Amino acid sequence: MIHVAVFDTKSYDRPGFESFNGKDLSFKFFESRLTEDTAVLTKGFDAVCVFVNDDVSAKVIDMLIDNGVKLIALRCAGFNNVDLKHALGKIRVVRVPAYSPYAVAEHTMALLLTSLRRIHKAFIRTRDFNFTLDGLTGFDLHGKTVGVIGTGKIGRIFIGICRGFGMNVIAYDPYPFQDADFPYVPLEDIFAKSDIISLHCPLTAETEHIINEKSIAAMKKGVFILNTSRGGLIDSEALLEGIKTRQVGAACLDVYEEESDFFFQDYSGHIMSDDVLARLISMPNVIVTSHQAFLTSDALANIAQTTAENIRTFFENGEAPNEVCYLCQ
Ligand code: NAI
Repeated sequence: MIHVAVFDTKSYDRPGFESFNGKDLSFKFFESRLTEDTAVLTKGFDAVCVFVNDDVSAKVIDMLIDNGVKLIALRCAGFNNVDLKHALGKIRVVRVPAYSPYAVAEHTMALLLTSLRRIHKAFIRTRDFNFTLDGLTGFDLHGKTVGVIGTGKIGRIFIGICRGFGMNVIAYDPYPFQDADFPYVPLEDIFAKSDIISLHCPLTAETEHIINEKSIAAMKKGVFILNTSRGGLIDSEALLEGIKTRQVGAACLDVYEEESDFFFQDYSGHIMSDDVLARLISMPNVIVTSHQAFLTSDALANIAQTTAENIRTFFENGEAPNEVCYLCQ
């Protein structure tokens, strides 16, 4: 029996994993995140299953190894929360490289349409029997230019959706897709020419704060910025400033730089301690969702399936086809 400790478990995570509890796999669920304080819980487990905001730092990795854990199974695609350099040669790390790129791409378009057509405002108004239209003016997506940064699985699906709306697509990726039927342009052109910019690249040293004071200044006035990738891609204070000066027309964020302190938790009734997040959320042209883009039943089923396969394959024959490692980057 392979014993797996699942951290940061929410009600919607359980059913998918529970369906694999059986003769060879045993998932035990912990609501707490994996941290230096909770790593002690992993004693006696063969593997840990973690999500985007679990802390898989060098210290936590050492604690896992001391407790006999052999595998870190990420149930997400991103791995910026794992100290891969420290893990190298000590413990293996696997991930779910794709669970539903459609879920994330569709959520990105949902955010754009909601923001652009003021659906979130209209919904509240009509519930209050206020049927006025003042302040709800949007613009047509048809004919507008969307700049997509990162043309991997999600970026390319988002491009297909945008084309369905009759938008002009330009893209930037240092590793262009070979059979692309859309034009690649330098990053400066994405900033200069796009009415809407959507981020679909991973968070790396190179992409951290790719949206910053300088790049925002180089954008078209009134640009819409969409981020369903990782919070660290945007310098949040620079974004807030851009919103205040009207340089940025709207921001749709499913991720936030300091999200691990707040996202997936209920802080209603509390005083929000993050001034930048509070100010962003208070803006009429900013929509924040709580790292929700992946959350479809299809994606959850795929996450559980691939994670179970990753774990079984590793413990049965030592192979890790979905491995992430420092030297593989
Ligand atoms: P992918 O690995 O298929 O594509 C990433 C693309 O980014 C690749 O084409 C890569 O060449 C490109 N890239 C790398 N460095 C770049 C740079 N400096 N500038 C521009 N592009 C660069 O990844 P996928 O599946 O499309 O996911 C994209 C991102 O979406 C992930 O990194 C993850 O952070 C995020 N994500 C968010 C979810 C959510 O629920 N909000 C769920 C799943 C993924």
